[in-house]
Order: sequence, then structure tokens, then C-alpha cells
Amino acid sequence: MKHDATALASVTWMHLAKIAVLGATLWSASVVPVYAQQPVQQQQYSELPAGEGKDTLIRVCSKCHSPDNVIANGQDREGWENTITKMAGFGAVGTDDEFTAILDYLVKNFPATINVNKAAAAQLESGLGLSTAEAEGVIQYREKNGDFKSIDDLKKVPDLDAKKLDAKKARLAF
Ligand code: HEC
Repeated sequence: MKHDATALASVTWMHLAKIAVLGATLWSASVVPVYAQQPVQQQQYSELPAGEGKDTLIRVCSKCHSPDNVIANGQDREGWENTITKMAGFGAVGTDDEFTAILDYLVKNFPATINVNKAAAAQLESGLGLSTAEAEGVIQYREKNGDFKSIDDLKKVPDLDAKKLDAKKARLAF
């Protein structure tokens, strides 16, 4: 029992240390800490696609770090569940309904893979790091020419940076 308590205490200290490290990183990157910014409700976080759950995500998940800073990669449902559980362990506070809304939002908008034949422009932007013009180019091209079958098809879209596609290759689904 004593052993357990010690282990728990050291885990907690590890988390605190990480939060401190995260805070220091934010400062050194001269990003204004979230708590010093204007109320979160007034921020748009335009990098995050609009949709149900976005407001809840911003409210619950921007207390320690910017939500659009960390959501660089997609995950499947289980992966996002694990992340949210981990955040709750760090001290993220929300009701079950709020965590479910956040989970649904993340699974929908930040999936493990992006289906380039079905994704909306905002999902192509956030998931693959495309510019708005590039994402719209993808949609126009597929409307005109039908579904993409491979990354090589996708590279035929005019003015699309092929290097971005190669970097996100593992995330492309057709
Ligand atoms: C109480 C502070 C706190 C809150 C609130 C919080 N996080 Fe975090 N988050 C952290 C810390 C600390 C890290 C760095 C973890 C690490 O380095 O292991 C982190 C890292 C992350 C990462 C990077 C990947 C990872 O697993 O480490 C993601 C994604 C993330 N948070 C998502 C969320 C989401 C989604 C929410 C809202 C449900 C949220 N966070 C709320 C503290 C928080």
C-alpha cells in the first residue's frame, strides 16, 4: 500500500513537471498564455473546423494549452478516448456530456486517416495541412474528374504542394 501511494505521488509530480515544461515552452515561443488572452469564447480558433463540440473543446481544453497547438495529428476513436482520459488525469475538468461532445468532435474532424474523396475542405486543411486554396483545388478536381485512386492521382491537382502530401502519406485514405 505504501508503495502504491509513493508511486502515485511520483506520477503526480511528473505531471506537474510536464505542465511546467509546457508552460515554459509556451513562454519561450512567445505565445501569450491562454489565461492572459481575451475570453476564449471570443476566439474563433479558425484552424479548428466548425461543428458541434467545437465550443466545448475550446472551453474545456484551452485551459492549459491552445487546442489548435496540440491537434496536429488525427487518431481513431480509441486513441482520442485515451488522450481525453490522459487530459482528465492532468486535471481537465468537464462533465461526461462535455467529454463525449469533445470526443465526437475530435473523431469526426481529426480522424486517423482522411478520406480525400469525401473530406470537406476544412478537414483537408486541418488534417493534411493544406492551404484553403489547395483544399478547394482538391474538391474541384474530384468533382470534375471523379474519385482519386492513389497519391499519384492527388498530385495531379494543380498548384498542390506534393511535399505536403508525401509528408502526410500515412494519413491518406481513398
Ligand atoms: C489541466 C491541464 C490540461 C487540460 C485542461 C488539457 N490538457 Fe492536453 N495536455 C496537457 C499537458 C500537460 C500535455 C503534455 C503532455 C505530455 O507531454 O505528455 C498535454 C498534451 C496534449 C496533447 C498532445 C498529445 C499527448 O497525448 O500528449 C493533446 C492532443 C491534448 N493535450 C489534447 C487535449 C484535449 C483534447 C483536452 C480537452 C479534453 C486537453 N488536452 C485539456 C494538459 C492539459
